[in-house]
Amino acid sequence: MNVTIIGTGYVGLTTGVTLAYLGHQVICLDVDKEKIEKLHQGISPIYEPGLEHLMELSKDQLIFTADYEKAVLEADVIFLAVGTPPNEDGSPNLTYLNSAFEACVKYIMLGNRKVLLVNKSTVPVGTAESFHQRLVFMGLQSIVAIASNPEFLRQGRAMHDTLYPDRIVVGGDESSIKLLRELYTSIIKQSFEEPAEIPRSVSLKEVPFIAVDRSSAELGKYAANAFLAMKISFINEMSTVCDKVGADVNNVAKIIGADPRIAPQFLQAGIGYGGSCFPKDTRALHHIAKTNGYSFKLMSAVIEVNNRQKYVIISKLRESFETLKGRKIAVLGLTFKPETDDLRDAPSIPIVKALLDEGAEVSVHDPVGLEKALALMPAGIDYSNSIEEVVSNADAVAVLTEWEQYKRLNWITVSALMRNKVLVDGRNALDAENLREIGFEYYGIGRYSSYNKKQVHKVAKLGAKEITMGQG
Ligand code: NAD
Ligand code: UGA
Repeated sequence: MNVTIIGTGYVGLTTGVTLAYLGHQVICLDVDKEKIEKLHQGISPIYEPGLEHLMELSKDQLIFTADYEKAVLEADVIFLAVGTPPNEDGSPNLTYLNSAFEACVKYIMLGNRKVLLVNKSTVPVGTAESFHQRLVFMGLQSIVAIASNPEFLRQGRAMHDTLYPDRIVVGGDESSIKLLRELYTSIIKQSFEEPAEIPRSVSLKEVPFIAVDRSSAELGKYAANAFLAMKISFINEMSTVCDKVGADVNNVAKIIGADPRIAPQFLQAGIGYGGSCFPKDTRALHHIAKTNGYSFKLMSAVIEVNNRQKYVIISKLRESFETLKGRKIAVLGLTFKPETDDLRDAPSIPIVKALLDEGAEVSVHDPVGLEKALALMPAGIDYSNSIEEVVSNADAVAVLTEWEQYKRLNWITVSALMRNKVLVDGRNALDAENLREIGFEYYGIGRYSSYNKKQVHKVAKLGAKEITMGQG
């Protein structure tokens, strides 16, 4: 089929490249001419493992352009995959989507050819219906059909998740569903040849194709993200309870995750969820419920817990230092998760800001996120590509993203370079026992350390009192 993708971000580019790899003729359009220029050179404007490789394999099926006319005139299916960032009040900003829709409609009218317009961006319930109503108003409903096809890929795993998704969800009328089922046949049947760099799991035989009405597809996307975010906030609250009672949250997660009704995924305690989606989509769902007259209490709690969780790093550091003023804190990892260069809504941003507010000197490292960090991080911090430089003379290290590189670091060398050997592991990603053996004062999230420290204080206080009493 002739497929056009509007928006070459994490979702659009991945979808376009995958569909081209599967044999469709794909045009990817973006209004950002710099991105299109890079794509013409075979360079991906985003960091996503395996993407450039698949781009190269599919180059004969792929065109990149900034010209709407060229992109839309011959298309059978057009995907809208532009950003829907949050407004101040949490509602999604649909400016980019509306403008992409209008531009497509303009050239569809010119081409006067039947086309299916599919929304892949995450949008409030009723968006597809409102597009449909606009088409009816313009008398175009017989040539343009509207469908919803929400995306469930994870950044850092985008190519894998697009080739081997857990499910494909489509909302629309019968003929739109039929066309999309056809478009995705080789993914549903897993009949394509797996790319060497992105192997298929042996157990994957067929991908569920879930065909529903447009509103359920739209709401289902928010529900999926909100549920995963809820699991994270739950385990993060448990980590605080663990710190208070002297239990290990990793063990608690293991115990509950062994129950298939709970499942082990998304029970990793840490500094809270970030990224361009969970924070935005939890707020959007809360907002959607509110504007429809319902106060979604569970969602507000999930959001509140996540906002608070980021500052756990500061309280852990305060357990070692009375004040952070003048202390050098080395931050390892800035992106919202590993294997991406994305810092949108990354917990590292408010954490670094809080450290600066406390008067700390902050130096930062990230394997791929430094360029994007420059635009998003507060002023007054030191950036370096060298971990040695960042940790030199540091009073404490805070690991904020669990990059493999940090897990495999020679921590003996790191400790030798530091002024004080305090380590806060914001992702519970490191080997606590080994680090303590090296001589680090190690703090995880909900992993005994804070509790033990309080016990030591209690005993010390008790001892001091006994001496005083004895002397009296
Ligand atoms: P992104 O910001 O990475 O990319 C969006 C692209 O759209 C940008 O390149 C931008 O230049 C382009 N664009 C903006 N306005 C345009 C217009 N009028 N015409 C053409 N191009 C335009 O966004 P993303 O992360 O790919 O997310 C896109 C949508 O998919 C969002 O609604 C998001 O919530 C949803 N989503 C994202 C992910 C993810 O992991 N990033 C996963 C699932 C769903
Ligand atoms: C998430 C969903 O997993 C995707 O299914 C969805 O398509 C996407 O949002 C979206 O709508 O954009 P993504 O944001 O790329 O994907 O990354 P996740 O792996 O879900 O992680 C999100 C955040 O949660 C990260 O900051 C991560 O560190 C944090 N997290 C994740 C935890 O703190 N604990 C966990 O156990 C898992």
